[in-house]
Amino acid sequence: MCNTMSKTVSGFSKLNKIEKIDWLISNFFNNDEKVAKCLAQYWNSNKILQDLHDDFIENTISNFYMPFAIAPNFVINGKDYTIPMTIEESSVVAAASLVAKFWSTRGGFKATVISTVKIGQVHFMFEGNKIALQNYFSSKKEGLFKVTEEITKNMKKRGGGILDIELRDKTAELNNYYQLHVTFETADSMGANFINSCLEAIANEFENEGIQIVMSILSNYVPDCLVRAEVSCKVNELYAENSALFAQKFVQAVQIANAEPHRAVTHNKGIMNGVDAVVLATGNDFRAIEAGAHAYAAKDGQYKSLTNATIENGIFKFWIEVPLALGTVGGLTKLHPLSKLSLQLLGNPSAKELMEIIAVAGLAQNFAALRALTTTGIQKGHMKMHLTNIIKQLGATESEKQFLINYFENKTVTHNAVVEAYNKLVGDK
Ligand code: MEV
Repeated sequence: MCNTMSKTVSGFSKLNKIEKIDWLISNFFNNDEKVAKCLAQYWNSNKILQDLHDDFIENTISNFYMPFAIAPNFVINGKDYTIPMTIEESSVVAAASLVAKFWSTRGGFKATVISTVKIGQVHFMFEGNKIALQNYFSSKKEGLFKVTEEITKNMKKRGGGILDIELRDKTAELNNYYQLHVTFETADSMGANFINSCLEAIANEFENEGIQIVMSILSNYVPDCLVRAEVSCKVNELYAENSALFAQKFVQAVQIANAEPHRAVTHNKGIMNGVDAVVLATGNDFRAIEAGAHAYAAKDGQYKSLTNATIENGIFKFWIEVPLALGTVGGLTKLHPLSKLSLQLLGNPSAKELMEIIAVAGLAQNFAALRALTTTGIQKGHMKMHLTNIIKQLGATESEKQFLINYFENKTVTHNAVVEAYNKLVGDK
């Protein structure tokens, strides 16, 4: 069955978990039993729970843990939230919590959903007469809606469905290329399966001898599934020392991200630290969100900041506009016990409310990053977390840990410096 020389294997998916691990260890880890133990220590002792996780994907051999944290004190549209976050990067949750507290005493965050339209496309090739194609489409359009009736029945009950089907001529971009551009409202579900099922039914109905369907798929670029979140306060309430200068540098930092793509990418990466953490915690698709957000950042032809900031009449205003196609039903949202719990923690929000919460998480994260970058720099906070990680790796006791934290209060943290200080400390004992 398996060829150990080339390490390729057939029928692998049919092996059970133990057989898969045996194959893995003999082919890649020299039969090292420690590898099997390492994988097994992450299995859940509750078989039902483990089976649930095993079945999310194929060839599951273990669980990959990520920290699941909460950031309290968010006030959004006058309502209090504790936001669940799943992220491995130290300081993201601490930053979110600090910023939440900061803005909770300055009116909180305001958020509004601007639009909720999702998009799917049937891509096809047609070599004939354009007017004939247009006429064919017009004659078929009603029938295209009709063939999806079975699929859209439940969605319609929830206020969703197909909004429109348009024929688009894309021949200027690619010879003979046209598409059916279909818009959807998917209510509280992200809608990927619903959209793709509708598109495939539409494509089947639309296809004829002259129309060659290439593919039917939703688009993760959703500029009309848009949310805005904002904070504002008087400039003199923004920072303890020299608030006016702080506000000015903050606005300049955003302007730099708007002017310079290298900076914009890192700026937006910081925003996605907040966005992705909540997207993951609520069982949503972070790759879809990432792809859509970055495409939106480049909508004007240059990659720019997703946030903006102004100072007008002594008022500092900072906001984000970001497309977020999210679900609070369907997919993993209620299947993964921790996603379900996350949604409960948020008060079982609608998809629209979740869009607002996640946009706020992104804005908060960007505020934290720009505040640190334009004042102390980010390394101070980062290295503090880094220090505790190094101390942990060294196996220091609680009192040794406290000693090292105090010792590095005003010193530069490097891996070597911490190891040296630790060795000296334990050597002196
Ligand atoms: C690090 O994960 C994110 C930052 O680099 C974001 C930024 O530079 O704005 C701090």
